[in-house]
Amino acid sequence: MAATASGRQAWRQLMRNTTITTTTCTTSSNLLRQQLPQYSSVLRRQASSTAQSSSRRVATQSPPSALRQQHRSYSSGAPPPPGGNKNQFKVWPFVVIIALGSGGYVLLANRRKKMPEDAQSPSAAAFSPSDVTVLFVLGGPGAGKGTQCANLVRDYHFTHLSAGDLLRSEQDRPGSQYGQLIKDCIKNGTIVPQEVTIALLENAMRAAISSSQKQHHHKFLIDGFPRKMDQALKFEEIVCPARLVLFYDCPEAEMERRLLERGKTSGRADDNADSIRKRFRTFVETSMPVVDHYAGGGRVVKVDATPSPDRVYTVTQDKLREVLGDKL
Ligand code: C5P
Ligand code: MG
Repeated sequence: MAATASGRQAWRQLMRNTTITTTTCTTSSNLLRQQLPQYSSVLRRQASSTAQSSSRRVATQSPPSALRQQHRSYSSGAPPPPGGNKNQFKVWPFVVIIALGSGGYVLLANRRKKMPEDAQSPSAAAFSPSDVTVLFVLGGPGAGKGTQCANLVRDYHFTHLSAGDLLRSEQDRPGSQYGQLIKDCIKNGTIVPQEVTIALLENAMRAAISSSQKQHHHKFLIDGFPRKMDQALKFEEIVCPARLVLFYDCPEAEMERRLLERGKTSGRADDNADSIRKRFRTFVETSMPVVDHYAGGGRVVKVDATPSPDRVYTVTQDKLREVLGDKL
């Protein structure tokens, strides 16, 4: 009996899909808030965007129900006293108030609909593309993203943020609650939950901007990110829309050769044949759809990463100049 009752309860819980999702998110958000410095600002924006949409829902629903109540109180009132035309005299101001109120509500609701999403929500991205240029740098493992980013930093004063490096340092940070999770993901070539990586990136961007003496426009190369669609969408929503994706295209055999060579000295837990195979699979199944998504929007600069690093860099500069002009 107890088993059947708990089975029914579990089913009911499953059917209440949204409740489960909310609980799970809240729990993981609380964990993140405790663990990652400044992560709370990211969460607050996510929470405020949720609260806003629900208050918008309430705003859309409540006036009609309020009206219904008003009408009900009129119709279920006491029987009219003798001298009905006196009673009519008392009711008309309320009718006018309700009519004005409803009209005002409809006007407000229509104006709100016409407002752009950003103006409606204080939870817009943390950085504006007019202050900050973000280039995502993608390519399979071993495509040479890090090497090319180092060249661009040297010649064009970008700030280079490698998602993989940030995750490795969070993994090694004493007391990090995500150390083991990150370690497992890296070893298996799977993607770390986006909240962790995005919080690390946003913190690193803030730190780079606030420690910089420069007052001018900041340019970031975000290397190895976004590796999954959810990372791409969330980052652009809450951190900063990206200007473009620099995509280094390289055949698997060449990437494998480079990674095995690098593995002799890199000390990385994932530069071995087993992890490399898994990383390739994740790249094809999970990360290539991100490249395709941006290509569909005309935001991909694709460079063949097979030749020597110098030749790849020459092509990189030419193509970036073509697209960014003096913004490079
Ligand atoms: O870019 P890199 O090769 O240094 O990334 C190493 C690992 O870090 C990836 O295989 C993946 O497990 C994790 N990672 C991630 N999300 C990213 C970048 C890296 O989960 N955006
Ligand atoms: Mg790298």
